[in-house]
Amino acid sequence: MSVTEKFVSMEWGAAPEDPREVVAWLNGHSRKFGHFIGGEWRAPKDGKYFESEDPSTGEVLASVAQGSSADVDAAVAAARGALKGWQKIGGHARARYLYALARLVQKHSRWLAVLETMDNGKPIRESRDLDIPLLARHFYHHAGWAQILESEFPGYIACGVVGQIIPWNFPLLMLAWKIAPALAAGNTVVLKPAEFTPLTALAFAELCSEAELPAGVVNIVTGDGTTGEALVMHEDVDKIAFTGSTEVGRAIRKATATSHKRLSLELGGKSPFVIFEDADLDSAVEGLVDGIWLNQGQVCCAGSRLLVQESVSEALLEKVRRRMSTLRVGAPLDKAVDVGAIVARVQLERIDRLVKQGVAEGATCWQPDGFKLPGRGLYFPPTLLSNVHPASTVAQQEIFGPVLAAMTFRTPREAVELANNTTYGLAASVWSESVNVALQVAAQVKAGVVWVNSTNLFDAACGFGGYRESGYGREGGREGMLEYLEPAWFAKAPALKAEKPARSEEKNGAEKAGKSAGHDGTLSIDRTVKLYIGGKQARPDSGYSFEVRGLDGKLLGEAPLGNRKDIRNAVEAARKAADGWARATAHNRAQILYYIAENFSQRSEEIAGRMARVVGAKQARREVTASIERVFSYAAWADKFDGLVHNPPMRNISIAMNEAIGTVGVLCPAETPLLGFVTTVMPLVAMGNVVIAIPSERYPLIMGDLYQVFETSDLPGGVINLVSGRPTELLRVLAEHADVDALWSFGDDAQSVMAKSLSAGNLKQVFTNEGRAIDWFDAAQSEGKWWLRHAVQVKNVWVPYGE
Ligand code: NAI
Repeated sequence: MSVTEKFVSMEWGAAPEDPREVVAWLNGHSRKFGHFIGGEWRAPKDGKYFESEDPSTGEVLASVAQGSSADVDAAVAAARGALKGWQKIGGHARARYLYALARLVQKHSRWLAVLETMDNGKPIRESRDLDIPLLARHFYHHAGWAQILESEFPGYIACGVVGQIIPWNFPLLMLAWKIAPALAAGNTVVLKPAEFTPLTALAFAELCSEAELPAGVVNIVTGDGTTGEALVMHEDVDKIAFTGSTEVGRAIRKATATSHKRLSLELGGKSPFVIFEDADLDSAVEGLVDGIWLNQGQVCCAGSRLLVQESVSEALLEKVRRRMSTLRVGAPLDKAVDVGAIVARVQLERIDRLVKQGVAEGATCWQPDGFKLPGRGLYFPPTLLSNVHPASTVAQQEIFGPVLAAMTFRTPREAVELANNTTYGLAASVWSESVNVALQVAAQVKAGVVWVNSTNLFDAACGFGGYRESGYGREGGREGMLEYLEPAWFAKAPALKAEKPARSEEKNGAEKAGKSAGHDGTLSIDRTVKLYIGGKQARPDSGYSFEVRGLDGKLLGEAPLGNRKDIRNAVEAARKAADGWARATAHNRAQILYYIAENFSQRSEEIAGRMARVVGAKQARREVTASIERVFSYAAWADKFDGLVHNPPMRNISIAMNEAIGTVGVLCPAETPLLGFVTTVMPLVAMGNVVIAIPSERYPLIMGDLYQVFETSDLPGGVINLVSGRPTELLRVLAEHADVDALWSFGDDAQSVMAKSLSAGNLKQVFTNEGRAIDWFDAAQSEGKWWLRHAVQVKNVWVPYGE
């Protein structure tokens, strides 16, 4: 072909990256790797290995150790052994190590990129231009956090030994997201890379040696799910950080429930890519290429659900098809390739199966004509499924492949409804030239990251993580650091001494209160309270109540015995109130809290008088005074717990907003009936959540005082609902209820375990005292940002600027 012909056709040949350095490195290790434990290579104790392949050729790259529980034991012991020294050297010294790692990543960037591409199958263009630069950036950024740790997180200490389990789609990037913040905060780690892509983690281990990182600070144990499980179950691990499938995340939630391990989960997604009719359609199409064909669509935040406004749907899809035809699929080491190989045969088969199922359920499948896939290796062509029904499998399940499922909408409202019609909530991309429309939709989509007129942007300074079944916890930025830190007082808090209140049998509500006074023969009942649901006092569905007795064993009154039905009613009432309350201005919420505090003040004498019979006169007075002050504090915080604006190194700002979590079930502590309620419920309400509270088991009659105050304080009905009863029974209902978004539980250890294990179903965020005693009177423990942080989830909205 002549130069002129080439100039016209614009065809070009292969431009392969040179793999020789990587091959030499593999050969230098005789293509066989042990674990990296305590700063040295160790053969697996039971001598088992597995093979890691290049998915684009099927060639075996190396044998890698299959970690057993004995190997995990050794790695955890090494990490534990290194912990004290790593903490003792302080933030500045740790910063220097992280900085050295960042420099080494840059120095070896090409070698790392080629190895990543060979092990994973992703195009070299991506590993070279995205994965590795972000890897370096993550270590630089976190070197900074290590440097300023003491001043920025006063009173916080590291969690300890951290077990980290990562997937195969961004092997090095996920390693950085896990290791950099953990080390900066003063933890030591045992990291298990995914079985399909262990090699770059082992290369990174060599960089740790080159940086002379103290032995045992970073340990890499390779293996499959059983190795991961051994790490999760290990008794000497203080925290687990996991990225991977929702199914395994759920299993880990259950498995760690009986321990005090901290947990962060970054799970799957089915992220909407919303295009409005006024969008710049050509830019949106380029965005889509990045959104769904980056890394062959094997991206947790892939824009896999295209929602396009009906008026431009045909025009847009035509542009998408045209662009798909120009995508180059092939050998990932070729610098001109857009779409590389699928990581493993099981993944390829899964994609194929799901696409066939989509077609069987009515979708129209389109793939570029005459598309030739390479003769060997694992490839799947770029695929567009249109006419997809929102309820169909391909609209709901994560495909994790180069497959786009397209649907249409008519109005912004419908777009938001469709966008939120998923159990996930990881990311969303919104395209409109109208800043009002784009930001309005961004605010309403339930997802941890929203990209306006952009997609798949990541930066170490901006938190990344999901809502709902996409997991909890954030990686990156200040909120990411907090995942690896905890308040020093909390780490040292003693176990709570559980004192079960003396309770008598429940009685049929039809019995007159006066009759029950006869039980103790001396005192007439001065209180019979009701449930409080949707702003109204309500009788319990069961028709039963139970007696509440004072310190002296005398009958004080009766509390309703709430059941499953009452909780369901309360959840329904809460959800009705949720939107209005979350959207009320923070000023408005503050005013209502001040009003509540004022009304508590007015009734302080009578409330303290009644409570004295249960907690003694002195505590009762202290509780009322402290509670009024605490409500004031949260009224103050309501309009001051602001988000942040990040400046990532793109022409972008990222607005990190503190959003309400939604509907939260709260099991209030037994020991301080009023102060415990105020401490746990008020930060939630101040931040815009709605609550179903189970009052103190010791003195549920406090409900009567509470609703009288609420009824005179302009609190909208449904924002706080009160249901008394058997706490563990009600906890179970709340934990299993799919419409409850988070659970706060403050009781003994057994109650914490129950809250965590039962809420694994829809992966609720769970906040508990881990069975420890909290000093409810000490504001340093019981008030402020630690509580507020648990009451919100951070959403990062990325907004580009410039031409
Ligand atoms: P996976 O969740 O099984 O694997 C992720 C990591 O967890 C790997 O290191 C694996 O060895 C480990 N693991 C597996 N079982 C474990 C257990 N019981 N305890 C502890 N660790 C365990 O994901 P898999 O099977 O590789 O992919 C299946 C699907 O999951 C994909 O098709 C995709 O839909 C989704 N996925 C989502 C990812 C994300 O970033 N959100 C990443 C990888 C997969």
